Amino acid sequence: MTLAQIVQQSDRILFFGGAGVSTESGIPDFRSQDGLYQMKYAYPPETILSSDFFYAHTQEFYKFYREKMLALTAKPNAAHYKLAQWEEAGKLSAVVTQNIDGLHQRAGSKRVYELHGSVHRNYCLSCGRAYSAEDIAKGEGVPRCSCGGLVKPDVVLYGEPLSEPVVCGAIEAIARADTLIVAGTSLTVYPAAAFLDYFRGKHLVLINRDPTPLDGKCELVLRGKVGEILSEL
Ligand code: APR
Ligand code: ZN
Repeated sequence: MTLAQIVQQSDRILFFGGAGVSTESGIPDFRSQDGLYQMKYAYPPETILSSDFFYAHTQEFYKFYREKMLALTAKPNAAHYKLAQWEEAGKLSAVVTQNIDGLHQRAGSKRVYELHGSVHRNYCLSCGRAYSAEDIAKGEGVPRCSCGGLVKPDVVLYGEPLSEPVVCGAIEAIARADTLIVAGTSLTVYPAAAFLDYFRGKHLVLINRDPTPLDGKCELVLRGKVGEILSEL
């Protein structure tokens, strides 16, 4: 079956996405040739984006984070808009994303499970006061709350647990889906990649520029750009 035929006969599609869904919006992914993890920094980016590094080298963390993670000028692309349309039309039940850029919500998606959090939520670690991504972007150095506390992005750093309610919601949505479309992810980061094992539905589709460990188990593997492919539907 073609993707169009599968979409046509589905009414509980679950879209599971990664950084490759936002590269067509100008946000580099992590592990591709031109990805973030291939770029040279004083420390490996996976180290900088860890909980230990955040607390031990907060200034250095925020320098990298403002430069590389806060893509506030990025706009949703055709993939984000198509998914929001499918949700509106009652074909898609939810998006589960590993991305923290908030572009699905910007495109109009309502049910989005952000497994790794979002740059748009930032909290004072002392009093819990909330700050926007813009507050973080316009500041310099280590962002401090009016109470003096340290402000931290609501982003899952390496070594931190995922949010329980988000994980439960995502797994429930994956388990209930009739079609699972996995796109723009190398499926190399756990536990996120393991959540796909809960899928019990009929059609498993993968849209990814490079091969992934899931390719052999899919009914349909589309090797290409997810924004382009979805915009043709
Ligand atoms: N269309 C389809 N696939 C794409 C596109 C595109 N336009 N652009 C990139 N890709 C594919 C790449 O081929 C690659 O396999 O998307 C995948 C991106 O993989 P990663 O860079 O590993 O990103 P991701 O899988 O989301 O990483 C998971 O790792 O560092 C952590 O927390 C971070 O959420 C991230 C997690
Ligand atoms: Zn505070």
